[in-house]
Amino acid sequence: MKDALKKCNNKQIMSPSSETHARIVENLATAVLLFDKDLHLISINNAGEGLLSVSSKRVSGMTPKQIWPNSSFFYDAIQRSLFSGGTCIDRGVDLYLNNAQKIKVDCMITPVIVNEVAEEILVELVNADAFVRVMQETNQQTVQEAAKESVQGMAHEIRNPLGGIRGAAQLLERELDNKELLEYTQIIINEADRLRNFIDRMLTTSTQPAKADMNIHEVLEYVVSVVRAENSRPLNFKKDYDPSIPDINADREQIIQAVLNLIRNAVQAIDEDGTITLKTRIQRQVTIQHRLNRHIIELDIIDDGPGVPPEIESGAFYPLVTGRAEGTGLGLSIAQQLIQSHGGLINYERKGSNTYFSILLPMEQSDE
Ligand SMILES: Nc1ncnc2c1ncn2[C@@H]1O[C@H](COP(=O)(O)OP(=O)(O)OP(=O)(O)O)[C@@H](O)[C@H]1O
Ligand SMILES: [Mg+2]
Repeated sequence: MKDALKKCNNKQIMSPSSETHARIVENLATAVLLFDKDLHLISINNAGEGLLSVSSKRVSGMTPKQIWPNSSFFYDAIQRSLFSGGTCIDRGVDLYLNNAQKIKVDCMITPVIVNEVAEEILVELVNADAFVRVMQETNQQTVQEAAKESVQGMAHEIRNPLGGIRGAAQLLERELDNKELLEYTQIIINEADRLRNFIDRMLTTSTQPAKADMNIHEVLEYVVSVVRAENSRPLNFKKDYDPSIPDINADREQIIQAVLNLIRNAVQAIDEDGTITLKTRIQRQVTIQHRLNRHIIELDIIDDGPGVPPEIESGAFYPLVTGRAEGTGLGLSIAQQLIQSHGGLINYERKGSNTYFSILLPMEQSDE
């Protein structure tokens, strides 16, 4: 026990055991890989397996060239660090994984020197995409929270007198002898109803999700049937589902609402022979709302329309921002709030001639 105690700045601290070290490495959010001096992999932690989509069992003992036959990055970077004898840092490196996915990483490679010889090579990797995403997301969330509060406050103020206006118009209608004037009271009643529906849409997102097991593909099939029913023109949907995605614990009604808003937008954006692609995948190690998720579902709603008009692109997720003459500008902001209340996020991206609205939804939902 005495040996296990070290003096440090006059404080006595316990020297961590090797189990503690192992536990720390396994729970690090940073991917850590250790190669021996002949470049055979000795160990990879959980974050490494997740980030690089490999299993420790399959790859241990393999060299970087065997693990990633399509990418010479690790081999070259390790050679560089061995040559310099110090830590080599590469930022924003595009890494092509064996499952054809591309990720951006920040990478640090350090030779572990024992008796002036590099005995092992330590590789640390951080998902750079995740950090960019966290920064953008934090800015977006702050502004959106403020916008949501002021819009909802205003909505409550408008909602209350509406009941009075509608009731008075009904009373007036009963008293009217001149039937021609009925047209005007009907306009008051109809417009009050329209305004009330609009206000109700603004206020719906304040309800807490009622979660139960649900299947994302069943939701997609349902939403596609609703959208087909409300459009008289034929719609071309392409489905690219990952059938291995398990059920998740989420509020089905709210997820339907969010997906419906995005698919309706896509329908409005495409022309007669346009296509909407619905793609589902599992992604690993993604940080959303400051929380690192081991697994998330990514649902991409992809259309080949012109994309969000540049003049509203930065504010498209805020309430009342619209690029359509008949739009109310609520669809995206409601969808974003519903997905965020599930710990997720919606991203917009234009890739080539395609518009991507991607719903990122954690698979392990927290209960808060
Ligand atoms: N898939 C898309 N392609 C092109 N532009 C889009 C797409 N999705 C949204 N937009 C643009 O973003 C704007 C905001 O969308 P949002 O759904 O919030 O409101 P809206 O569609 O105008 O009205 P509504 O409240 O009826 O949904 C749209 O008006 C449109 O200009
Ligand atoms: Mg819309």
